[in-house]
Parts: sequence; structure tokens; C-alpha cells
Amino acid sequence: MTEASAARVPRHIAIVMDGNGRWAKARHRPRSFGHNAGRKAVREVIEGCMRQGVEALTLFAFSSENWNRPEDEVGALMELFIRALDKEVDELHGHGVRIRFVGDLAGFEQGLRQRMNQAMTHTAGNDKLLLNVAVNYGGRWDIVQAARKAAESVARGEFRADEIDEKVLGHWMCLADLPPLDLFIRTGGELRISNFLLWQAAYAELYFTDTLWPDFDQSSLALAIEDFARRERRFGRTGDQVALAKA
Ligand code: IPE
Ligand code: IPE
Ligand code: MG
Repeated sequence: MTEASAARVPRHIAIVMDGNGRWAKARHRPRSFGHNAGRKAVREVIEGCMRQGVEALTLFAFSSENWNRPEDEVGALMELFIRALDKEVDELHGHGVRIRFVGDLAGFEQGLRQRMNQAMTHTAGNDKLLLNVAVNYGGRWDIVQAARKAAESVARGEFRADEIDEKVLGHWMCLADLPPLDLFIRTGGELRISNFLLWQAAYAELYFTDTLWPDFDQSSLALAIEDFARRERRFGRTGDQVALAKA
């Protein structure tokens, strides 16, 4: 595995972990078998990120739209989250990983919510890798909850409405305290964002791969990071300006 030079390693990577169902179907197994197999890929990317010096990793585990799936699949996913929380948190803590759940946690039943809160509290002091797991998350929900907080602070007289700008609103968005999102990866071949980090992805580099999530491993991650390292990020400027700034 080639390691990208430190300067070109993304500080913050987000991943839409897609393709579990198709992976299972190809093996004539139920979709839940694919979700289970996806756990290994999660471990692989966490390890890969720590190796390469990525500071923050945000994984899309369950979207606000995924409640629309068949009841037994949703149930199997919830069971999987509980099992994963019970099994993996101590080990991640041992490796210095801080775990945070982002999304509308109020949508989950109490037992699961409790486990999520425990995992967050337990690992809050860690800083080796900032791992965010997006559950019952939607990019539009995120913008709405930030807008609501802005409205509340205006109502309290802390801000005037005309003081709410991108910086102020951005401060209430999920993940605002982390390095900006550099690299947005989607596995499973679909070319869409599916209501993931809409605000945060504004200037992220997008990377799509046909690899199904359970097959994604450290070398797949290394390929994505190498691809990122070759991109020229212009942020609205010209290529010549970017070259000049680098010289
Ligand atoms: C992603 O895999 C996992 C979740 C959405 C929870 P899918 O279950 O969407 O897999 P495909 O897209 O059907 O193959
Ligand atoms: C996005 O995948 C959500 C997660 C990976 C958790 P989906 O498989 O739900 O996305 P769509 O519905 O195909 O766009
Ligand atoms: Mg899918």
C-alpha cells in the first residue's frame, strides 16, 4: 500500500457506505448478511485512516430515508448497531478513537440511544481519530436544525436576523468543530449524494467507486486518498493563482 504524502492526506473523509444489499444478493443471502459483512469494511477504514493520519472520519450508517425500508431490514440494522456498540466501543476506545453519533437521535428507541450516549461519553476524551457515525441523518434535517437554532438565538436577542451569515449558521451545523470535509467517498456505484452532508460537502472532492461496501478495504481507501492527492483544489480561483500560491 502506498501512503500518500502527509501534505496531501485529507484531514476529514466522509463515506456513503453503499452496496451491502447487492453484495449479499450476489451471494444469494439476505440483505442483512451484507450489512453484517460491512462491519469488516468499517474496521478497515478506521484502521486505514489512523495509519494515514486522517483526523476525522464520518460514516453514513443510516439515513433519515432508510426508515422507508422493509420493517425486518430496519430491525436487523438496529440489532446490528446494538451488537456493534456492545462489541466494538471498548476496542475503539483502546485505540484512542472518539466516537460521536450525528443525526436525529430522538428517532431511536431508548436502549439504543442510551448505548450511543454511553459510547460518546466514554470516548469523549480521545483524539487519535474523530469518528462520526451518521444515523437518522439527513443533510436537509441538518440545515433545518441549524436554522432553528439561529431563529431561537434571534428570538432571545443574541443575534440580529441580518447577522446570520454563512459563518454564523455554519457554526450550528453538525461537525462544525471538525476540520472541513476534504474527501467525500461513495461506494456501490451510484452517482448521488442521497441527502448526506449537503452543507459540509460544498467544497469536498467527490470520489465514486463501484466497489461494494463489504469489499472496501485499506487499499481501496489508499486509492481514494491517492486520487484526492492528485486533485487541484481551486476554491473559485484560477489554476495559475493556485500554482503561484504554492510556489
Ligand atoms: C448501504 O447498503 C447500507 C445502508 C443503507 C444501511 P444498501 O443496503 O443500500 O445496499 P444496496 O444499495 O441495496 O446494494
Ligand atoms: C445511502 O444509501 C444511505 C447510507 C449508506 C446509510 P442508500 O442506499 O439508502 O441510498 P439511495 O436510496 O440508493 O439513494
Ligand atoms: Mg443502497
